[in-house]
Order: sequence, then C-alpha cells, then structure tokens
Amino acid sequence: EIRALIDRLERDRTLHKEEFIELLTRYTAEDFAYIREKARKTAQSIFGDKIYTRGLIEFSNYCRNDCYYCGIRRSNGEVDRYRLSKEDILKCCDIGYELGFRTYVLQGGEDGAFNDDIMTDLIVSIKEKHPDCAITLSAGELSYESYKRYFEAGADRYLLRHETANADHYAKLHPERLTLEARKKCLYDLKDIGYQVGTGFMVGSPYQTPENLAEDLLFIKEFQPEMIGIGPFLPHHQTPFADQEKGSYELTLLLIAILRLLIPNANIPSTTALGTINPRGREEGILSGANVVMPNLSPVDVRKNYELYDNKICTGDEAAECRMCLQGRMESIGYRLVNERGDFQPLI
Ligand code: 5AD
Ligand code: FES
Repeated sequence: EIRALIDRLERDRTLHKEEFIELLTRYTAEDFAYIREKARKTAQSIFGDKIYTRGLIEFSNYCRNDCYYCGIRRSNGEVDRYRLSKEDILKCCDIGYELGFRTYVLQGGEDGAFNDDIMTDLIVSIKEKHPDCAITLSAGELSYESYKRYFEAGADRYLLRHETANADHYAKLHPERLTLEARKKCLYDLKDIGYQVGTGFMVGSPYQTPENLAEDLLFIKEFQPEMIGIGPFLPHHQTPFADQEKGSYELTLLLIAILRLLIPNANIPSTTALGTINPRGREEGILSGANVVMPNLSPVDVRKNYELYDNKICTGDEAAECRMCLQGRMESIGYRLVNERGDFQPLI
C-alpha cells in the first residue's frame, strides 16, 4: 500500500531504502495527487503563501571540469566563454535590489581566474552596497580555506549538488578527477564553516536507477541540507550525453514532494530545468511543495552562453521581465513573491 508509505513518510520524515524504491516505482496517479497535496500543505504550514526569490547571476562560464552532462564543460570548444567584471556583477545586484531581490546567487563554472582575493573583494563589495541581502555562492569544489575566507567575507550560503550519492553512478557522470568522496568532503566542510548549504541531484541522469534515487534521499536525510535543488536531466547537444534521454517531469514533481516531507523546513526551489521541460513546470513544482524561485539576473548578452542543457528558458528576457513573469505565474496559483532574504529557519 503506497498510501500507507506516504503517511509514514509524513509522520516519521523518512522511509527505509526499499520503501523509497517501492514508492518511486509503484505509485499510481491517485498516490501522486495524494503526496503532492500533503507536501503542498506542509510547505504552506511553514511558508504560508510566500515564495522566496533568488536573483541568479551567472558570473563565468569558464570551467576546469568536464562533467559529461554539462554544456559548459571544458571540452566544449563551441561555447563563447565570458567572465563578468566586478562592475557588471555589482550592476546586476543593483538592478536586482530595485526589483526586490534580497538574495543574490553567484553561480559560475570552476574558474581559477576568480581567485580568493577577487572573490572575497567581490563579496565584501556586494555586502557593503546591500547589507540587507544574502549572498549564495555556487562555484563548485574549493578548499576548506577558500570556503572559509568567502564565509568570513560575508557569504551566507553555498549550493553544491552532490549529483548522485552512489559512487559508481558518480563515476559514470564525471571524469576520473572528480569523485563523490571529494564532493561530500566539500559539503561537510561548508556545513562545518557555518554556511547554509544546498545540495541536490538531477532526476533521470544517464544510468540512474530507482535505487540510486533512494540513496540520494537517504544521503539528503543524513546530511540535513538547508536547501535542496533538483531538476530533470536535459541533454545538451555538444556533450557526450547528447543522445541520452531526458529525465521525467512527473518523477521530478514526485521527488520534490518527497523532499518536502523529508525535510519540511528546507528551502526548495522550483528550478529552471523544471520550467524548461514543461511550460508549467515551475508552477507545478510549487504545487508539489517547493517554496523558492530563482529568476535570472545575468546580463542578457551573456545568457545564451550559460547553457548547461539545450533550450534553457529565459535566455532572451531582461531581469525585470523574468521577475514580472514569475510574479504572474505565482499569483495564478495563489502564491506571492516576497522581498525577503528567506533564510533557513529551524522548526520550532
Ligand atoms: N541537465 C540538467 N541539469 C544540469 N546541470 C548541469 N547540467 C545539466 C543538464 N544537462 C545541473 C547540475 C549542476 C547544476 C548547476 O545544474 O546538477 O549541479
Ligand atoms: Fe524569465 Fe518567465 S521567468 S521570462
């Protein structure tokens, strides 16, 4: 009985591995509606009708890594590489501030040109101009010392998806230099330093099994991230995974609902990949228990160069258009965007 599993997941905030596999592989349309409603109610009991917004600034598409799934991997010679200057980034922040954003997400490839001195100067400068804003970094695997310097400079949060919690699966998605062990060490370093930490995975990445997804859920339960980002895998035509099948839209929605019941107070975005796989994806993500949206604040002239996967939405829209678009989408389903930092709050 899948319904009994869902009830127990809600009550105990976890399940055993075999039970997660059962839920992921045997749910019916009625079970799907049932768990989504539970997840939605859980999110509403904590966040009400508020949706937190994060302004995404894609500051560099240079990357030293060569992940098989990613459009900006080092080996993709077709990408027009760019780096935003400090002035560009501060301008994005100013535009974002006027639009009501109180969190900036600085996301980029692993680009050595943004060294510790440059990054700390950038973080300090943003915080000087906008002391009431949170800074989230998403810049990959770095040393404990670098993470610590950025935190002391004023960074509040860090996003680093674990991608898959199974080491063999991890090796099928990444070249040898990258390991699950190193990824997990970074995550625990970030927690230790004091960041609010986000992790997550792609749904339907090549070679992923239901057992792998159960392992992802159990890793997340153990790690207790403050933020959880997931989205469907979408192929990029200039990568080794060009001909792989995309992930499942419905399974992504189911997993968002499971994650909401697993960690009720986590900040969970309804992601751009979800909005790319389905035109109503971001609304339906919220209706599965997500509570965050992350509109793009990057300058329009570089957006199309930050294509992690094909057909990414919003590459031609100004920041203000994305904000207005999402505001309308959220209001259409009974929610509202708020101008708050939206930090993680422990359950009382
Ligand atoms: N499809 C979907 N998501 C992707 N990401 C990278 N490439 C793809 C893709 N082809 C996700 C990864 C990464 C995040 C920034 O984007 O999970 O952590
Ligand atoms: Fe960018 Fe809709 S969110 S155009």
